[in-house]
Amino acid sequence: MSSRIILNAFDMACVTHQAPGLWRHPDNRAHTYTSIEYWTELAQLLERGRFDALFLADVLGTYDVYRGSAAAALRDAAQVPLSDPLLAVSAMAAVTKNLGFGVTVALTYEQPYLLARRFSTLDHLTRGRIGWNVVTSYLESAARNLGLKKQIAHDDRYALGDEFLDVTYKLWEASWEDGAVIRDRERGIYTDPSRVHPIGHSGEFFDVPGIHLSEPSPQRTPVIFQAGASPKGQEFAAKHGEAIFINGIRPELTRKTTDKIRDRAEALGRPRDSVKILTLVTVIVAETDAEAQRKHAEYRDYVSPEGALALYGGWSGLDLSQYGEDEALAYVDTDAARSALSIFTTADPDSRWTPADIAHYVGIGGIGPVIVGSPSTVADELERWVDVGGVDGFNLAYVVSPGSFEEFVELVVPELRKRGRTWDDYEGSTLRERLSGSPVVPEWHPAHRYRGSLVGGPTADDTTLPAARIPAAL
Ligand SMILES: Cc1cc2nc3c(=O)[nH]c(=O)nc-3n(C[C@H](O)[C@H](O)[C@H](O)COP(=O)(O)O)c2cc1C
Repeated sequence: MSSRIILNAFDMACVTHQAPGLWRHPDNRAHTYTSIEYWTELAQLLERGRFDALFLADVLGTYDVYRGSAAAALRDAAQVPLSDPLLAVSAMAAVTKNLGFGVTVALTYEQPYLLARRFSTLDHLTRGRIGWNVVTSYLESAARNLGLKKQIAHDDRYALGDEFLDVTYKLWEASWEDGAVIRDRERGIYTDPSRVHPIGHSGEFFDVPGIHLSEPSPQRTPVIFQAGASPKGQEFAAKHGEAIFINGIRPELTRKTTDKIRDRAEALGRPRDSVKILTLVTVIVAETDAEAQRKHAEYRDYVSPEGALALYGGWSGLDLSQYGEDEALAYVDTDAARSALSIFTTADPDSRWTPADIAHYVGIGGIGPVIVGSPSTVADELERWVDVGGVDGFNLAYVVSPGSFEEFVELVVPELRKRGRTWDDYEGSTLRERLSGSPVVPEWHPAHRYRGSLVGGPTADDTTLPAARIPAAL
C-alpha cells in the first residue's frame, strides 16, 4: 500500500501570503483574517478534510528591500498588515479535536524561558496538537525594530538557535518530573517540590537557572518544524526538525535536497524516515482539466508583479529593481534566506531566471509549484512529488482563501483517499503521534536526552522554596 501523504494547510495571519494581488479577486476572503471566525471556520474545514495541521508562517518586519521601501508591500498587502499567529490557536483548538497547529516563531528575538511557557500553554489548550516552526528570521527590517543595528549574521543565528532550543528542551523535558503535580488535598500539597528541578542553564547567550513555570503538557516539547535550507540551515534542521519544510520547483531537482536532508539526518544517528519532509505547493483544481486551466488563467490576471518582487526581495535580500530586464539572477551570499536565491541559481544551473520570470513564478504560490487540473491530474502530480521528489507531504498554499482549501477538501481529498494516500479518520491523539507514531519526543531527538535527566539532582525543595518560605520579618 502506498504511504499516506501528510497534508498541512499553509496560511499566515495576513491578507496576502503567497499570491500577491489576488486579494482583489471577488472570491478571496483572506482579508477577513482579523475576525476569529475566519480562523475557526478554516480550522473546521481542514479537520473535515482530515488535514494533519494548519501551518502558520510569520515574519517580524516588512518587505522593504524592493526599491528600498515597504510601499509596494503595503499597496499589495504582501504579508503586511500582519497579526500575531499564536493568538488564534486557542480559538481554533476549541472548535476542533484533531487538527494540529504548526506555528512559526522566530527565536532570535525571544527569551527561551518565556517562549517555552507560551508553547506549554498552547500544548495544554490544544491537548497536544501544537508544533513550533523554529525560524531565525531573515528580515533586516525586523532586526532594526527589535533593538539591533542589523541582523545577526546568517550562520551565527543558527548558533544562537542551538542554545535557545537547548534551554527550552531542558525546561520542557527535565524540569518537572512526571507525577510532580500530586494535588493531594489531605496533605495540602499541590506540587511536590522534590520532583521539580531548576535547570541551572548557563551558556553563551542565555542564563536560566530556575524551573519551568508550566506543568508538563501532553507532548512536553512541541513538534519541532524547521525550514532552514542553506548548508548551516540543513544541519540545524537535520538535528532538530521532526518535520522539515522545503521549497522546490521540480520534483527531479528536489530529490537532491530530500536525499541530502535524509543523509544528514542519518549521519546524526537518526533513521532516514524519521524526517518528515514537506514541500510547498499551490493547487488549482476543478472538475475538469480545462476548467482548472481556465481558473488559473483568470487568477493570473490578478497577480501583482510588484507585490511578487516585494516578497522575493524580503526572502532573498535582493532588490530586483536594480537588475537589468534581461539580467539573469546569480547567487550571492546574503543575510536573508539563502535558499530563496540558490533554488533559482546553483540548484537549477540549466535555467536562467530574470526578474520578470521570478515575478511570474512567485506571483502564484511563492517559491513553489502550482499544480493545475482535475482531481486525478492533481493527485497524479502530488504522487509524483512524493515518488520522484522524495517528500512525505505538502504545505498547501492558497490562491484565494478559504476557496482554494474548500476545493481541495471537496475534490482532491476524496481522490487521494481512493488511492490510499490519505486516512479515513485521524489516528493517535497528539500531533507527534500522528506524524511519527511516538507520543513523546523520539529517542534520536536532542530533547530526548533531557527526559528525566535531573531526577536525583537539585530540586525546588532545596533551592528556591525554603528561602521563599522564611518570612522577611524574621
Ligand atoms: C518553505 C520555507 C518556509 C519558511 N517560512 C518562514 C517563516 O514563516 N518565517 C520566517 O521567518 N522564516 C521562514 N523561512 C525561513 C527559514 O526558516 C530560514 O530562516 C531561512 O530560510 C534562512 O535560512 P537558510 O538560509 O538556512 O535557508 C522559511 C523557509 C522555507 C524554505
